[in-house]
Amino acid sequence: MDDNREVIELVNKLQSLFKSTGCGTQNIELPQIVVVGAQSSGKSSVLDGLVGFSILPRGSGTVTKCPIIVQLVTINGDKEEEGIELEDFLEDGRTQDYDDVRAKIAELMERENGAITDTPIIVRVYSPDVVTLTVVDLPGIKRITSKGEPSDLETLIFSLSRKYINEKNAIILAVSPANYDICNSDGLLLAKEADPEGNRTIGVLTKLDLMDEGTNARDLLTGVSQDVQVKLGMIGLVNRSQKDIDNNFSVEQQMEKEKSFLNNNYTDLVERNGVPFLRKRLQELLVQHIWKCLPDILKKLEDSLEACNNRLTQIPNVMTQKDQFAFVNRLIQRFENHMRTEIEGSPRSPGCDH
Ligand code: GDP
Ligand code: NA
Ligand code: MG
Repeated sequence: MDDNREVIELVNKLQSLFKSTGCGTQNIELPQIVVVGAQSSGKSSVLDGLVGFSILPRGSGTVTKCPIIVQLVTINGDKEEEGIELEDFLEDGRTQDYDDVRAKIAELMERENGAITDTPIIVRVYSPDVVTLTVVDLPGIKRITSKGEPSDLETLIFSLSRKYINEKNAIILAVSPANYDICNSDGLLLAKEADPEGNRTIGVLTKLDLMDEGTNARDLLTGVSQDVQVKLGMIGLVNRSQKDIDNNFSVEQQMEKEKSFLNNNYTDLVERNGVPFLRKRLQELLVQHIWKCLPDILKKLEDSLEACNNRLTQIPNVMTQKDQFAFVNRLIQRFENHMRTEIEGSPRSPGCDH
């Protein structure tokens, strides 16, 4: 798994580099993991489980009011400080106070007086215990508008979700709560529209613990259900209930609880469900996905580098930019070398299916 991790880290570096140079490369599509689904289906809770800490505001009602882009970065704990940075609060430095991060995110979300907006909040999590990944939390689909909300709110949230999941190399987590009829799942509906073949959609079934007595999700989780077929599989989870959140349950404590729930109710499916399995599955998919995208990304990089260089020759005496481009160049060189060794030296084929 180590060279897989290396590829992912490289992609993350490229991504922040594009952002900081802003040299017209914004349209390079790099893989991100995006959650979609109805309001209160458990999207923010799922991402908290992936991240491993409670940094995303959760709860009943419209809690998530704009996209929250969480960049997870693996660090060497001996050399670098663990912690979280919030883009608009960077001067505050890295913090390990998750409650503070969550409160600041909530504060930023009120920028537009509590209205849903498409301006993202960017959070970076540095930890030795995370896999280098970018995940995006989105406002949930809401069919009925409340007092004071714009009448086109549903359309707004649908188009906001589409913007992120239509990216061809986004991996979609289509979240559906197990205590509602899956045929009404907005998450699966949107995912199907963006990814009709189902090549980059994972189904996530939350709230297994809240199903009606006498019912269970076995058919859905084993893929035999005629109602819904998700090619890459449906993973069942038990996230924190509102009471658990109010009692400050940690992600670790919840994972223990989830494990014993699965052990008691889905003994033979324990290995293929739950937060730990979702993490593992995503890592696999992401690597396969990046692998498939590499030739394309490299081509785009070369194109935009050429465009940047052309522009650069027209602007005299810009040392800082030149330095930046030299850096990009070195990075591309490394990227290219890496690809070459992967292609020539590795048994994995670039066309691997998933
Ligand atoms: P979002 O609106 O889709 O982001 O949903 P949230 O993550 O904010 O969750 C909405 C509510 O459902 C919160 O009160 C959570 O505690 C609760 N919830 C989410 N997942 C589960 C679950 O698996 N089991 C239980 N019991 N409650 C859950
Ligand atoms: Na909610
Ligand atoms: Mg949410």
